Amino acid sequence: MLKHLDHVGIAVANLEEAVLRYEQLLGSRCYKRERVESEQVETAFFRQGETKLELLGATGPESVITRFIEKRGEGLHHIAYEVDDIHAEMLRLTGEGYRLLNDFPKKGADNKLIVFVHPKDAGGVLMELCQAHNPDP
Ligand code: CO
Repeated sequence: MLKHLDHVGIAVANLEEAVLRYEQLLGSRCYKRERVESEQVETAFFRQGETKLELLGATGPESVITRFIEKRGEGLHHIAYEVDDIHAEMLRLTGEGYRLLNDFPKKGADNKLIVFVHPKDAGGVLMELCQAHNPDP
Protein backbone atom coordinates (compact mmCIF):
# COMPACT_ATOMS: atom_id res chain seq x y z
CA MET A 1 0.00 0.00 0.00
CA LEU A 2 0.93 3.63 -0.25
CA LYS A 3 2.20 5.08 2.99
CA HIS A 4 2.13 8.75 3.93
CA LEU A 5 2.13 11.73 1.61
CA ASP A 6 5.86 12.38 1.16
CA HIS A 7 5.71 15.57 -0.84
CA VAL A 8 3.70 17.80 -3.10
CA GLY A 9 5.36 19.02 -6.31
CA ILE A 10 4.63 22.50 -7.63
CA ALA A 11 5.73 23.71 -11.07
CA VAL A 12 7.10 27.25 -11.01
CA ALA A 13 8.27 29.55 -13.78
CA ASN A 14 11.02 31.21 -11.74
CA LEU A 15 12.59 29.05 -9.07
CA GLU A 16 14.52 31.87 -7.36
CA GLU A 17 11.39 33.96 -6.92
CA ALA A 18 9.34 30.95 -5.85
CA VAL A 19 11.87 29.97 -3.16
CA LEU A 20 11.68 33.46 -1.64
CA ARG A 21 7.90 33.42 -1.86
CA TYR A 22 7.57 30.04 -0.16
CA GLU A 23 10.13 30.87 2.52
CA GLN A 24 7.83 33.74 3.42
CA LEU A 25 4.61 31.75 3.05
CA LEU A 26 5.75 28.73 5.05
CA GLY A 27 7.90 30.57 7.55
CA SER A 28 10.72 28.09 6.98
CA ARG A 29 13.89 27.98 4.90
CA CYS A 30 14.46 25.94 1.78
CA TYR A 31 16.78 23.18 3.08
CA LYS A 32 17.92 21.65 -0.19
CA ARG A 33 18.36 22.49 -3.86
CA GLU A 34 19.03 19.73 -6.33
CA ARG A 35 19.25 19.50 -10.10
CA VAL A 36 17.95 16.44 -11.93
CA GLU A 37 19.84 16.76 -15.20
CA SER A 38 18.03 13.89 -16.91
CA GLU A 39 14.74 15.77 -16.49
CA GLN A 40 16.13 19.30 -17.00
CA VAL A 41 14.62 20.19 -13.65
CA GLU A 42 15.91 22.00 -10.59
CA THR A 43 14.16 21.28 -7.32
CA ALA A 44 13.94 23.20 -4.06
CA PHE A 45 12.66 21.46 -0.92
CA PHE A 46 10.84 22.63 2.18
CA ARG A 47 9.78 20.43 5.05
CA GLN A 48 6.77 20.99 7.29
CA GLY A 49 6.43 18.04 9.65
CA GLU A 50 6.87 14.83 7.68
CA THR A 51 5.57 16.29 4.43
CA LYS A 52 7.78 18.17 2.02
CA LEU A 53 7.10 20.68 -0.68
CA GLU A 54 9.09 20.26 -3.88
CA LEU A 55 9.27 23.35 -6.08
CA LEU A 56 10.10 22.40 -9.67
CA GLY A 57 11.74 24.81 -12.08
CA ALA A 58 12.85 24.10 -15.65
CA THR A 59 16.54 24.29 -16.55
CA GLY A 60 16.05 23.87 -20.31
CA PRO A 61 13.49 24.01 -23.11
CA GLU A 62 13.02 20.23 -23.16
CA SER A 63 12.09 20.12 -19.49
CA VAL A 64 8.81 18.47 -18.53
CA ILE A 65 8.22 21.58 -16.43
CA THR A 66 8.54 23.88 -19.46
CA ARG A 67 5.93 21.80 -21.28
CA PHE A 68 3.69 21.61 -18.23
CA ILE A 69 3.68 25.39 -17.70
CA GLU A 70 3.06 26.03 -21.41
CA LYS A 71 -0.02 23.81 -21.25
CA ARG A 72 -1.41 24.44 -17.80
CA GLY A 73 0.45 27.32 -16.21
CA GLU A 74 2.18 27.26 -12.86
CA GLY A 75 0.69 25.21 -10.05
CA LEU A 76 0.21 21.76 -8.61
CA HIS A 77 2.27 19.27 -10.62
CA HIS A 78 2.16 16.03 -8.64
CA ILE A 79 1.55 14.43 -5.27
CA ALA A 80 3.99 11.79 -4.05
CA TYR A 81 3.34 8.89 -1.71
CA GLU A 82 6.11 7.00 0.00
CA VAL A 83 6.23 3.24 -0.46
CA ASP A 84 8.44 0.57 1.11
CA ASP A 85 8.78 -1.56 -2.02
CA ILE A 86 8.29 0.32 -5.26
CA HIS A 87 8.53 -2.82 -7.42
CA ALA A 88 5.80 -4.55 -5.40
CA GLU A 89 3.54 -1.49 -5.67
CA MET A 90 4.14 -1.28 -9.43
CA LEU A 91 3.09 -4.91 -9.76
CA ARG A 92 0.06 -4.40 -7.53
CA LEU A 93 -1.16 -1.35 -9.47
CA THR A 94 -0.54 -2.70 -12.96
CA GLY A 95 -2.30 -5.89 -11.82
CA GLU A 96 -5.31 -3.74 -10.97
CA GLY A 97 -5.19 -2.19 -14.45
CA TYR A 98 -3.48 1.11 -13.63
CA ARG A 99 -1.15 2.57 -16.21
CA LEU A 100 2.28 3.71 -15.09
CA LEU A 101 4.30 6.32 -16.97
CA ASN A 102 7.54 4.42 -16.34
CA ASP A 103 8.36 0.77 -16.96
CA PHE A 104 11.17 0.90 -14.42
CA PRO A 105 11.77 3.08 -11.37
CA LYS A 106 14.00 6.03 -12.13
CA LYS A 107 16.21 8.07 -9.87
CA GLY A 108 14.50 11.27 -8.77
CA ALA A 109 15.60 14.09 -6.51
CA ASP A 110 16.14 13.52 -2.78
CA ASN A 111 17.66 10.03 -3.21
CA LYS A 112 14.38 8.49 -4.28
CA LEU A 113 13.41 5.82 -6.72
CA ILE A 114 10.25 7.06 -8.40
CA VAL A 115 7.53 6.08 -10.84
CA PHE A 116 4.45 7.98 -11.91
CA VAL A 117 0.88 6.73 -12.23
CA HIS A 118 -0.99 7.98 -15.30
CA PRO A 119 -3.06 11.02 -14.28
CA LYS A 120 -6.05 9.70 -16.21
CA ASP A 121 -6.12 6.75 -13.82
CA ALA A 122 -5.88 8.96 -10.72
CA GLY A 123 -8.66 11.49 -11.10
CA GLY A 124 -6.60 13.89 -13.16
CA VAL A 125 -3.77 14.08 -10.64
CA LEU A 126 -0.23 13.02 -11.47
CA MET A 127 0.72 10.64 -8.66
CA GLU A 128 4.29 9.70 -7.85
CA LEU A 129 5.34 6.66 -5.87
CA CYS A 130 8.69 7.12 -4.17
CA GLN A 131 10.97 4.84 -2.25
CA ALA A 132 13.97 5.98 -0.24
CA HIS A 133 17.10 4.90 -2.07
CA ASN A 134 20.61 4.92 -0.74
CA PRO A 135 23.01 4.82 -3.66
CA ASP A 136 26.26 2.94 -3.29
CA PRO A 137 29.01 5.24 -2.00
CO1 CO B 1 8.30 14.49 -6.70
